[in-house]
Amino acid sequence: MIFQIFFVILYIAAILSLLYGLWTIVPFFYGLPWVPTAHDRVRRALEMVDLRPDELLYDLGAGDGRIILMAAKDFGARAIGIEASPMQFAFTWLRIFFSGVKSKVSVRRENFYRTEFSDADVIFAYLTSDQAIRLQDDLASQLKPGARVVAVAFDFPDWKPNDFDEGYLLFSYTMPPQKGGMLAYFTERESELE
Ligand SMILES: C[S@@+](CC[C@H](N)C(=O)[O-])C[C@H]1O[C@@H](n2cnc3c(N)ncnc32)[C@H](O)[C@@H]1O
Repeated sequence: MIFQIFFVILYIAAILSLLYGLWTIVPFFYGLPWVPTAHDRVRRALEMVDLRPDELLYDLGAGDGRIILMAAKDFGARAIGIEASPMQFAFTWLRIFFSGVKSKVSVRRENFYRTEFSDADVIFAYLTSDQAIRLQDDLASQLKPGARVVAVAFDFPDWKPNDFDEGYLLFSYTMPPQKGGMLAYFTERESELE
């Protein structure tokens, strides 16, 4: 009996380790680890871009679905998560199913380099600088005028942000992007202070 209990525990532990391994390792294959954005930082980011009811938000790399769910529950927006990793995709799909806002939120198992963004009002992105460089031309050409992009912990090097939160390290941009990057942003801010 003791041996049977031992093997059941071992079996459960092995399955949990496998699931945890898939959860953490698979995102690396897409060039970005799974690092969630803290809830207060997400809220600040969505406030910075003034997300309004019924606007459409995309989260590039939906992770555990926290951004799209907050966008719908707390801001009344519609939201689509793009997620390449099967574990994060399945988890987010389940969260949406039981969320009470599933008419407003969805997740797609897709590589965000292949996503069409032309209907987006807001893009939420927690990426790396390399991914930003790869994405910035597609975003600039696809997004409609007035659409906003908020970047967590990295900036789009060719674009001048219209707002920057130093505490949370958030950068927000309005389309079409203005050229010049952070240098142009700080130069403009200094001249305003003089
Ligand atoms: C840093 S996490 C951010 C998760 C969530 N957006 C947040 O802020 O809490 C990045 C997520 O993007 C996913 N990801 C990485 N590269 C991707 C790609 N090319 N297409 C879609 N998803 C990708 C990873 O699997 C991971 O879940």
